[in-house]
Amino acid sequence: MKLLVTGGAGFIGSAFVRMAMGETGLRVVNLDKLTYAGNLENLVDVEGNARYRFVQGDICDAELVNALVGEERPDAIVHFAAESHVDRSILSPEPVVRTNYNGTFTLLEAARLHHIARFLHVSTDEVYGSLPAPAEADERYPLNPSSPYSASKAASDLLARSYFVTFKLPVVITRASNNYGPYQFPEKLIPLMITNALEDGSLPVYGDGRQVRDWLYVEDHCRGILAVLHHGRDGEIYNIGGNRSLPNLEVVHQVLALTGKPESLIAYVKDRPGHDRRYALSSEKLMRETAWQPVMNFEVGLARTIEWYRGNSAWVERVRSGAYRTYYERNYGNRAAVT
Ligand code: NAD
Ligand code: DAU
Repeated sequence: MKLLVTGGAGFIGSAFVRMAMGETGLRVVNLDKLTYAGNLENLVDVEGNARYRFVQGDICDAELVNALVGEERPDAIVHFAAESHVDRSILSPEPVVRTNYNGTFTLLEAARLHHIARFLHVSTDEVYGSLPAPAEADERYPLNPSSPYSASKAASDLLARSYFVTFKLPVVITRASNNYGPYQFPEKLIPLMITNALEDGSLPVYGDGRQVRDWLYVEDHCRGILAVLHHGRDGEIYNIGGNRSLPNLEVVHQVLALTGKPESLIAYVKDRPGHDRRYALSSEKLMRETAWQPVMNFEVGLARTIEWYRGNSAWVERVRSGAYRTYYERNYGNRAAVT
């Protein structure tokens, strides 16, 4: 089986490529633009493997995408490529809408033209918006996205589904909760808190820090995607949750405890505009239809993640140089600490 993976140099995409390459006989073509979030260092484990090919390119480039799909004729497309950060989508929505919506459109068109047998669109629980407790979103829950990021993902989900309904393109959609683990770009909550804490830097908690997220270890997510790739039904949506809901402050306290740093590092800062209060996901359908379930215990996964960041300070230094500093200043510079 040959897969065309998009965004395979990012956090989840690279974990998926490493895992998929472990499957005997599976071949992977990785199409990635290498934005600030794409990093070939994440893929040294598969570099040089005869079953792996890397192509640098933009999923919005229809000529390139059509030529590549026509040349490689993959059995399936697994589509991760996206602008994935909510804060950046608030600061600059344009690349987010372009990649997440237009890029998905370009891929769907190429898949339709070349009769690709499976199109797996990787999406997010953020499309359901903020849920009142104790509700959990199953796949029929209404879409109610709040940020340019989540709206662009919801729009691309609808477009992907329309290609199944209208053109019978065999589309499946996955919607996962918040991922954490090694190689995550330190703009998201957990890697940002870990890398700042390890340097005794301040830990910027938005608002009151009581927002709730459901944490999913990245390898559990990738196993869920493989389960849907192999066993999912055409036209269906599958939630993939970690079954571990925690308020942000609790996550931050655990990071401090595991790094041995003081609570005085916490800085309560101005909230994110349109900040969703609570996500909660039911993965009942995926568990019922496949043997999948999340297996990583959060405390173990967090400790493992912290150890990875401790042991890979050179990786951290490289991804935090240059443009990262500019982003950090832009996002946090005007968020003075509040009591
Ligand atoms: P990431 O930001 O770490 O990686 C994104 C990758 O896509 C990078 O390698 C980047 O270079 C590439 N890319 C961006 N724009 C591109 C373009 N125009 N053409 C080609 N490549 C491009 O993202 P991630 O956290 O690994 O997320 C991957 C996917 O999973 C996204 O679709 C995201 O919406 C979804 N998702 C993420 C989470 C999470 O918690 N991180 C949870 C649920 C779903
Ligand atoms: O739910 C799935 C989504 O999870 C994915 O679709 C997105 O790609 C991914 O970025 C993530 O979105 P969130 O906005 O939930 O993740 P983030 O790590 O940015 O923030 C998690 C929570 O932590 C959120 O309530 C905001 C808060 N936060 C975040 C940062 C970066 C802070 O309090 N301080 C921060 O500095």
